[in-house]
Amino acid sequence: MKKDETISEGLKHLPIRPVYLLSVGNKRKKNIITIGMFASFSGKPALVGVGIAPSRYSYELIRQSGEYVVNAVDKNLVEAVRICGKKSGRDVDKFKLAKLTPEKGAKVSAPIIKESPVSIECKVVEELEAGDHVWFIGKVLASHVREGYDWNDGLLFKWIGEDGFYYKVGKRIAKY
Ligand SMILES: Cc1cc2nc3c(=O)[nH]c(=O)nc-3n(C[C@H](O)[C@H](O)[C@H](O)COP(=O)(O)O)c2cc1C
Repeated sequence: MKKDETISEGLKHLPIRPVYLLSVGNKRKKNIITIGMFASFSGKPALVGVGIAPSRYSYELIRQSGEYVVNAVDKNLVEAVRICGKKSGRDVDKFKLAKLTPEKGAKVSAPIIKESPVSIECKVVEELEAGDHVWFIGKVLASHVREGYDWNDGLLFKWIGEDGFYYKVGKRIAKY
C-alpha cells in the first residue's frame, strides 16, 4: 500500500471536523456562517472556541459585537449548511436564502436559529490568532435544546471536503 504523506490526507481520517451554523450580529445586521472549526476549551467555566478567517463577513460582525451563537445541525439543515458555507452575508441575507428563522436569544443580541436542535449563546472573552484563522474563545451564557428533538436522529458531525460528503454522528458503542 502506498503511503500518502500529504498533510490533508491524515487530517481527513480523524473524527474531528464538526459542522455548525454560527449566527452572529444583531436584530438589524445578522448573518450565518457554516463552520467546522469548533472546539470545547473548558468545562467550568464552560468555554468554547470558533475559528473564523478574517476575510469573512462574520468575522467583522463578531469583532463588532463580541458575541455569537453556535447552532448544531441535523440532516434537515444540510441545504442551509451548503448555502451558509458558500454565500457571503455581504451579498445576501442568508436567513432568507436558507429559509431559517432568527429568534431572540436569552443573553446575547446575536439571533438563535429556530430550526436548530441545539443552540449555545456565547460572549467572546479572548481572541487567539492561529495561522489563517482567529479563534474567538466564548463563555457559554445560555443554551437551548429544542423540545422533541430526537437525539438518535443524529447531528451532523463530520465533513470531508475532499470526498464531498457530510457525515452524521455514529452509533453508541460503549459505556465510559
Ligand atoms: C463545511 C464547511 C466548513 C467551514 N468552516 C469554516 C470555518 O471553520 N471557519 C471559517 O472562517 N470559514 C469556514 N467555512 C467557510 C465559510 O462558511 C464561507 O466562506 C462563508 O461563505 C463565509 O460567509 P460570510 O462571509 O457571510 O461570513 C466553511 C465552509 C464549509 C462548507
